[in-house]
Amino acid sequence: MNKITVPIISSMKNKEKIVMVTAYDAPTAKIVDESGVDIVLVGDSLGNVIQGLPNTLSVTVEEMIYHTKIVSRGIQNAHLCADMPFMSYQSSKLDAVRNAGRFIKEAGAQSVKLEVTTDYIDTIYEIRKAGIPVMGHIGLRPQSVHDMGGYKLQGRDKDEARKLVALAKEIEKAGAFSLVLESIPQKLASKITRAIKIPTIGIGAGADCDGQVLVINDLVGLSEDPQPKFVKKYAEVRETMKEATKEYVDEVRSGAFPSSENSYD
Ligand code: KIV
Repeated sequence: MNKITVPIISSMKNKEKIVMVTAYDAPTAKIVDESGVDIVLVGDSLGNVIQGLPNTLSVTVEEMIYHTKIVSRGIQNAHLCADMPFMSYQSSKLDAVRNAGRFIKEAGAQSVKLEVTTDYIDTIYEIRKAGIPVMGHIGLRPQSVHDMGGYKLQGRDKDEARKLVALAKEIEKAGAFSLVLESIPQKLASKITRAIKIPTIGIGAGADCDGQVLVINDLVGLSEDPQPKFVKKYAEVRETMKEATKEYVDEVRSGAFPSSENSYD
């Protein structure tokens, strides 16, 4: 298989579904890459699922660069996209371009993702001007959790929906190569997907998007319940790890481990 590039991702629209998943470390990146995903996202969701934080707001550029760097070591074929964390692009366009550049130069990412409102259209344009591909992210924007009053479904009324369609068009015009749609009604996601030529990648946005993304810890059942409705668990890794560790605890305490097989003569 060949390296998945931005032009390949663009050409997948209306032909085949794009599969994106998050990863935060090298061994997980290797597993998801070998499983055939198209895009590995180093999401700032690592604040929640790796750092045990209540939200993504205190994740830093240095932490994201560290995780992107180690994820890049596990990837051969998938495209590697890094999330720009809170306050790495909000302060100024110059900060945005500089920080985006660090993800490419220091961490080995091939693109960056930004949570976008109309205020950041020029920011996309400037990052793109530096030759860095940008993935937009609209709908539920976890970095604006306080502004939104919680993690809620977005685009529910007509006016909000109309604004999101217009925003998606502006993001496309600014030069983004793809767009994440998070937690919006399926019909609206479908409308946005039909209204723009760049691929949409949905999470909690229904089946009509050009692709789907899930957080790896949620997908394999490593995250604690309850999970949002849009998560599908494909395994019960949390339970498996717990059972394995409990068995180890019992065997060490009983003297069953290590046996002669695990010992040197
Ligand atoms: O941070 C993240 O993992 C994300 C995806 C869920 C889209 O933004």
